[in-house]
Amino acid sequence: MKILVTGGAGFIGSNLCEALLEKGYQVVCLDNFATGKMENILPFYSNPNFQLIVGDIRKLDDCQKACESVDAVLHEAALGSVPRSIKDPITSNDVNVSGFLNLLIAARDAKVKRFVYAASSSTYGDSKTLPKTEEVIGKPLSPYAITKYVNELYADVFSKTYGMQCIGLRYFNVFGKRQDPDGAYAAVIPLFIKQLINYQSPTINGDGEYSRDFTYIQNVIDMNILALGYKAEESFSLVFNTAYGERTTLNQLVSYLKEYLTPYDAKISEIEIIHGPNRLGDIPHSLASIDKAKKILGYSPKYSMREGLKEAIDWYYNKLRIN
Ligand SMILES: NC(=O)c1ccc[n+]([C@@H]2O[C@H](COP(=O)([O-])OP(=O)(O)OC[C@H]3O[C@@H](n4cnc5c(N)ncnc54)[C@H](O)[C@@H]3O)[C@@H](O)[C@H]2O)c1
Repeated sequence: MKILVTGGAGFIGSNLCEALLEKGYQVVCLDNFATGKMENILPFYSNPNFQLIVGDIRKLDDCQKACESVDAVLHEAALGSVPRSIKDPITSNDVNVSGFLNLLIAARDAKVKRFVYAASSSTYGDSKTLPKTEEVIGKPLSPYAITKYVNELYADVFSKTYGMQCIGLRYFNVFGKRQDPDGAYAAVIPLFIKQLINYQSPTINGDGEYSRDFTYIQNVIDMNILALGYKAEESFSLVFNTAYGERTTLNQLVSYLKEYLTPYDAKISEIEIIHGPNRLGDIPHSLASIDKAKKILGYSPKYSMREGLKEAIDWYYNKLRIN
C-alpha cells in the first residue's frame, strides 16, 4: 500500500512516516516546512519507499499531485497551537480549513477512499463532562478549535455525499521524540524538558492544577494503523478519542519530569518552578474515554503517560546534550 502522510516533516507526521516505512508501506510525504523540519525526515529520507513532495495544502494542485496513486491518506498537516490561532486566526483557518477541504477534494478525485485525519481534543471546548466521550462536545474556545471541528463536519459530509471513508482521530496532548521544544508555540512537555536540562525554571500557566490526558506518540501511531486497517465496504465517518485515558495535572507533570531527569543530572532536582497567569483559550481539564476506540478499533494503548515520558526524556536528553 502507498500512504500519503501530509505534514510528514512535523512531529506526529514524521513518526507516522517512520512507522509505516518500518511496516513496509510506500510513503509519500507532503509538507511545506511551515513548522516541520528536514531533520525530522532525515532518518528515513534515503529509504527507496519514501517520497517527499514539498508543497502547500492551500494549493489544490499540490494536493492533487500528492494524492496520485495513493491508497489512503493520513492527514496531519495543519497549524497547531491555540495561542497561534488566537494571534492569527486567518492563517490558521486557511491552512486548517481550506487546506483540509483541498485535500478531501484531491483524495475524492483520486478515488482514495480511506481518509484518516488529525482531529483534536480542543473540539470538546467548554464541555465540562469528564471523561470526554465522542458524542458530547461543547462550544469551541479558540479559532483553532473551530478549525478542527469544521474538519469533522466536512469529513462527515464527504462520506455521505461522495462515499468516502473518513476517520478523525481526536488527539489529546501528544508528546514524544521530535516534538519541537523551540519557538513561541512549543508544547509544554518538550519546552519544560529543554528548560530543565538547561537549568531554567519552567513557568506553569496558573496554579498547576489544570490537567491533561498526555498521550505518548506510540499510542497515536497505533491508532493510525488501526484506522487504516479498519474493515468496511460502505462509506462512513467516525471520530475516535486518541489518548491514554488518564489525567495528569501540570504540577504532577513537572514533578515526574524532575524525577526522571535527575538520574541524568542531579542538579535538575533543585530547579524552582514559576507560576504565571492562566492562558486564554485553555480548557481546565481534559480526560478522554477511550472505550469507543477499544470497542470498534480494538485499541489498547501500550504506553502510560509515565512510561512514554521516560522514553521521551531519554531521547531529548541525548539530543539536546549533543547539540
Ligand atoms: N501535538 C498534539 O498534541 C496535537 C493535538 C491535537 C491535534 N494535533 C494535530 O495533529 C497534527 C500534527 O501536529 P504536530 O504536533 O505534529 O504539529 P507539527 O507542527 O509538528 O506538524 C505539522 C506539519 O504540517 C506542516 N504544514 C503546516 N502547514 C502546511 C501547509 N500549508 N501545507 C503543507 N504542510 C503544512 C508543517 O510544516 C508540519 O510539518 C495537526 O493537524 C495538529 O492540529 C496535534
